[in-house]
Amino acid sequence: MKKIAPSILSADFSNLEDQIKEVENGGADIIHCDIMDGKFVPNITFGPVVVKAVRRITKLPIDVHLMIKDPDNFIEDFVEAGADYISVHQEEVIHLHRTIAKIKELGVKAGVVVNPATPINTLADILEYVDLVLVMSVNPGFGGQKFIESSLSKIEELKKIREDKNLDFEIEIDGGVTSANIEKISNAGCDIFVAGSSVFGEDNISGASAKLKSLVS
Ligand code: DX5
Ligand code: ZN
Repeated sequence: MKKIAPSILSADFSNLEDQIKEVENGGADIIHCDIMDGKFVPNITFGPVVVKAVRRITKLPIDVHLMIKDPDNFIEDFVEAGADYISVHQEEVIHLHRTIAKIKELGVKAGVVVNPATPINTLADILEYVDLVLVMSVNPGFGGQKFIESSLSKIEELKKIREDKNLDFEIEIDGGVTSANIEKISNAGCDIFVAGSSVFGEDNISGASAKLKSLVS
C-alpha cells in the first residue's frame, strides 16, 4: 500500500493537534517530522519535545528525518519520544552500518537519506540492512521548494536494486511533492510520499491529504 506522510514542518504550530487531526481525517498514513539543527542544514526546527507531543496527539507512525550533525547522539532521545522510523543522512554519518544497527536494536525502523547530489550507488553496502531509503527531491532545509526531476531515476534505480537483490526496504520521497507530480513519482516506484506545503499550505488540509492519497491508491 502506498503511504502519504504529511510533514508538520509546514503546519501551524499554534494549532498542531487540530492540524494533525485534519491529516488523519484525510487518510494520512504517517506523520513526518523534520529535525533541523542550523548546522547540517541552514534552518532550525524542533527536537524530541515536539515529537513527544505529536506522539500524544496521534496513533499514526511517526517518521523522524534527522537533518542534524552527529545524529548518533540523539537517537535514544527520539526513540523515547515515540519515533517509529528514524532516518539519518548518508552524507553525515561516517559509521552508517553501526548507526543503522543501533536504530534497529532500539526497536525502531531505520532509514538512510540521500541528498540530491548523492548517488544511489553510495548506498550499495547498506541497502540490505535498512528498512527505508529516503530520496531527497529538494536540497533539505526548507519546505515549499521545487521538485528536482532527476530524483525520479533514483527511485527507479532503488526499485530495480530491491527487485534484483530481493530486498524489502521501503522507498520514500521528500520535497516538492504535489498533486501534479505525485502519480509520476508513484509510477517510478515510490512507496511513501512526504508532503509539507501541498498539504498544510492548503485551506482544506484534510482534502489535500485525501487527494494525494487518492492519486496513488
Ligand atoms: C525539507 C524537508 C521536507 C519538507 C518538504 O528539508 O525534509 O520534509 O518539509 O516540504 P515540501 O513538501 O513543502 O517540499
Ligand atoms: Zn523531511
